Amino acid sequence: MSSKIDELSVRKAVKERYSGLATSGSSGKDYASRIGYSGEAVEKLPDQVLEVSAGCGNPTAIADLKPGQTVLDLGSGGGIDVFLSAQAVGSKGKAIGVDATPEMIWRARKAAKEMNATNVEFRLGEIECMPVESNTVDVVISNCVINLSPDKEKAFMEAFRVLRPGGKLAVSDMVLTEDVKADEQEMFKSWASCIGGAIPLDEYVGKMKAAGFKDIEINSRHTYTSEELALMLGDTGCCGSGCGCGTGITTLTGSKALSKVATVKITARKE
Ligand SMILES: C[S@@+](CC[C@H](N)C(=O)[O-])C[C@H]1O[C@@H](n2cnc3c(N)ncnc32)[C@H](O)[C@@H]1O
Repeated sequence: MSSKIDELSVRKAVKERYSGLATSGSSGKDYASRIGYSGEAVEKLPDQVLEVSAGCGNPTAIADLKPGQTVLDLGSGGGIDVFLSAQAVGSKGKAIGVDATPEMIWRARKAAKEMNATNVEFRLGEIECMPVESNTVDVVISNCVINLSPDKEKAFMEAFRVLRPGGKLAVSDMVLTEDVKADEQEMFKSWASCIGGAIPLDEYVGKMKAAGFKDIEINSRHTYTSEELALMLGDTGCCGSGCGCGTGITTLTGSKALSKVATVKITARKE
């Protein structure tokens, strides 16, 4: 993928989109419930966190977090999974979020302050080159972010580097259920990486293996209906508002490409 795209343009487009969502706060409780957060989890979080929820699943549900652990969230956005992880690991543990969009980091830090969350930290950085020491993290989580990366190999290598031996990776992400044809790929690209960066599941797993991950398990896989996809990528959701995805959806309506996008939950381990 990285050889076929202009990496800098993708990174710029992604940051612009999520800076827009950080400012508009156009997501919310309903969206979070729809993508897999329990009522109890949602009730624990303030609106300012839920308003920028933009994942495609709930990685904390498969992370098996324990008190005292250090958790790292790749592409933490407004911090939804960081705050839930922080509650699970308790005061002796820590949850760190890394995100490339300054507005998301500022928003998450503000929320942390207002929530009095002392075991969380939000760091500005890219998941392909993280400001995190090697072998220091027990669990790496991520929610609908690696699909946006123009260098997924590097993102998985970085996740592997920061994990302690025995550490776990737990991700929710968007993938393609099969290879899309060239004309369909063009349409995906017009979304400027909204899901334009999603790759086939076997390729995704191949990149995890290449980074060194073992015991890779697909915990769940759900192929979106076109209605679900429209909700995911509309005004709210993993695309955020004002990103032009509405146009993409209109262009794609009726396209077979729509039946090839799935959300998956995957776990893996660093030996
Ligand atoms: C779809 S949103 C998901 C946010 C959050 N994980 C959630 O579930 O609400 C994607 C987030 O990943 C961040 N992001 C995208 N590409 C990134 C990269 N290469 N490095 C770091 N953050 C990135 C964006 O800034 C945005 O906040």
